[in-house]
Order: sequence, then C-alpha cells, then structure tokens
Amino acid sequence: MHFENTHILLGVTGGIAAYKTPDLVRKLTAKGATVRVVLTDSAKEFVSPLALQAVSGHPVSNDLLDKDAEAAMGHIELAKWADKLLIAPATANFIAKLTHGLADDLLSTLCLATDAPIYIAPAMNQQMWHAKATQANLTTLSQRDVTFFGPAQGEQACGDVGPGRMLEPQDLADLLLPQKSPLLLKGQKVTITAGPTREEIDPVRYISNHSSGKMGYALARAAKELGADVTLVSGPVTLPPPADINTVKVNSAKQMLDAVMSTIKDCNIFIACAAVADYRVQQKVDQKIKKSDDELTLTFVKNPDILKEVAHLSSPPFTVGFAAETQNLKEYALGKLQRKKLNMIAANDVSDSKIGFNSEQNALTVFWPKGELKLEVADKQLLAKKLMLLVEQRYTEQK
Ligand code: PMT
Repeated sequence: MHFENTHILLGVTGGIAAYKTPDLVRKLTAKGATVRVVLTDSAKEFVSPLALQAVSGHPVSNDLLDKDAEAAMGHIELAKWADKLLIAPATANFIAKLTHGLADDLLSTLCLATDAPIYIAPAMNQQMWHAKATQANLTTLSQRDVTFFGPAQGEQACGDVGPGRMLEPQDLADLLLPQKSPLLLKGQKVTITAGPTREEIDPVRYISNHSSGKMGYALARAAKELGADVTLVSGPVTLPPPADINTVKVNSAKQMLDAVMSTIKDCNIFIACAAVADYRVQQKVDQKIKKSDDELTLTFVKNPDILKEVAHLSSPPFTVGFAAETQNLKEYALGKLQRKKLNMIAANDVSDSKIGFNSEQNALTVFWPKGELKLEVADKQLLAKKLMLLVEQRYTEQK
C-alpha cells in the first residue's frame, strides 16, 4: 500500500473494454490509491456509472456543463486534484481529439486543464490501430510525454486478430503504480543497445529491419529504476529519449560499435537488445543508383558483432545478449551463449507476430550456463523489469 496519497483520475471512453474498468478501479484502490472516474457519453453505453461509483466510492463525472457536479468538484478542481490521469480504454477517436487539443466534453477538457502526467491504454480494432492517422497521433502524443500502456495483441471483439486489445486491469495497475524498486543497481554502470541499425546503400536507400526500440528502451527504464547509471545506445527509432537516461543516437552498426566501446571501460553490465544488421554493402555509392539495368547486384560484407566484441574483451562486463529466432529457439540461443561467451541470453521467438519486433508485448526464455527461466508474454515494460531483476541477481551472484 505505497499509494495512499495518490489521486488517480480515470477517464473511460466508449470501447467494449470499458466493461473491465470496475475491476481496474478495484486493482488501483487495492494499491491504496484514491480513484475518481470520468466517463464520456459513449462509455456509458458499455459500463454503468453506478458500478464505477460503487467501486471507487466517489460520484462519477460525465458532463462539463453539470451545475451540481461543478458545485461539488468543478472540472478545474478535478484537473488539479489528479496526480495521474489514466485513460482506459482510449478509443482511436479520443486519441485523435487529444492530439488536436479539442475540449468538447469533460474528459478532453480535463486533459488540457491538468498538469498531471497522462497515461493512455488504447483499445480499438487492429486496422484502426494500424491506420496512418492513428500512428501519427501516437507519435505526436509520445513526443508530448504522454505514456502509452499497450495495446495487447490477440482476438478482438469484432473477430479480427491483431494489436488493439486493452491491457488487463492488473497489468495497467502495475504499470501506473509500480512497486518501488529497491536500488539494487545503485552505483553500477549499464550500457544497453536498442532499435535497428541502418546500413546505407546510396544517399537515398538503406537496409534495416522492423525493430522499434521498445524492448531496449523499456530495459533502459527498468535499469534506471533499479538505480543504475544507464547509457542507451539507440539506432534510428521514433521513440522519444527516456527521461534522465544518457541516450546516444546512431545509425549504422559501425557507429553503434564505436558508441558502445566508448562506454565499456567502466561498464558493469552490457545488454545487447539492438537488432544490428549483420551485413552492410561493401561499398556505399556516393550518387543515387539509377535504374538503368534490369538487375542490380550488391555485395554485402559482414558487420562487426558488437556483442561478441564486448564479451571477448580481456575484462568484459557482465554481458547479456538477445537471440531473435524463428525456429530451434533453445538450440540456437544456447549456441550463441557459448560461441559469444555470454553470461546470459534472452531468446525471443520472433516467428510469433504477437510478440517481438515492433509489438507492445514480448515473451522471453532466458538462458545462462546452469539455468533457464521463461518470462511469459507481458507488456514490454513489465517484462523488462522482470529481466532486469534476473540480470541483477545473476550479476550479483557472479561478482
Ligand atoms: O525493438 P523491438 O521492436 O521492441 O523488438 C525487440 C527485439 C525483437 C529487436 C529484441 O527483443 C531482440 O530480440 N533483439 C535481438 C535482435 C537480434 O538481432 O538478434 P540476433 O539473434 O540476430 O543477434 C544476437 C545478438 O547479437 C543480439 O543481442 C544482437 O544485439 C547482437 N548482435 C548481432 C549482430 C551484430 N552485428 N552485433 C550484435 O551485437
């Protein structure tokens, strides 16, 4: 019960997942928080205000122009009261309104009137999630420090399968009100690579992959929460740099290697989460390649293996690799653990489109010389916490 003095304003918008919000209120109040709920008009079609009033113990607000509600706690007071504003579920429509700063109902007005941090648990059809407009809105809001929890992948109310399910109430409560981590890595320097690399072919073309950086950025935040001094070496991604973390942006594998090596002398733990391109073109062409021939042949050469170079240093840090595999997960991961002389490896089954590259969730099986542990599918931030605790445990045992 760390959160007795925390005021949560929960905004509920009109999606089918709204039926889960009484449970969400229970999970938040179980952690000690005080919760007040604001419903949009369409949310009332999916969940009863009375149920939310009963579980939160406070009247539920809905109308911007309600004289009685304004007399009790006006919208500006409510906006000032909140320590955190969570919108769950958040529809595509509401996310669009928020992006454009509309204030045509109580909830959108509160979003503008509050200086509390805003957290969003999106819930929508997978096609609406993938729509260019929605994705552009997410990028804009992320740049304004709005935090997104989820969505999860899976079967949807409409029968589609894909990203767009609201995270489960317990996961949302744990993400919004995380247990205070003991500062187990205080005084330790941790370097983490994240995202893809880009290998240029000519001035306008490159080869790369689908890594979004989400897993590596989540690990950087989790290491920071444990008190570590973190350097994040990031390939080109659209995520904003995490607060209070030294983030070095690079493009190519060679640049990533240089940036990592410049931190490694006094680094205690190195985690290679980046999806580094294994090859680059032998000779980058200075001018744009013209399409004069029917065929184009490019020669690729191997990139340096950053993880291997770090693990083979004369006094290497505690070194953790990732293994993105589409088959023979255990065999290939154990092969990399031994060949690259790693302390640990986190195997990622990237044949499953619900997890891994560019999704909100992931699942890992972690191997070390005498053990293994399965970390079940979860939001990347929750999973990163579990992995960092495991890394810390093994690192401390080996010291
Ligand atoms: O970024 P997200 O969208 O969140 O997705 C996360 C992820 C799927 C990218 C991540 O969880 C993951 O699996 N990262 C490793 C991807 C990868 O390149 O795996 P690999 O099996 O090809 O490489 C093995 C290890 O060697 C990795 O730790 C990699 O960082 C490292 N490596 C590989 C090649 C190279 N030239 N240098 C390296 O350091």
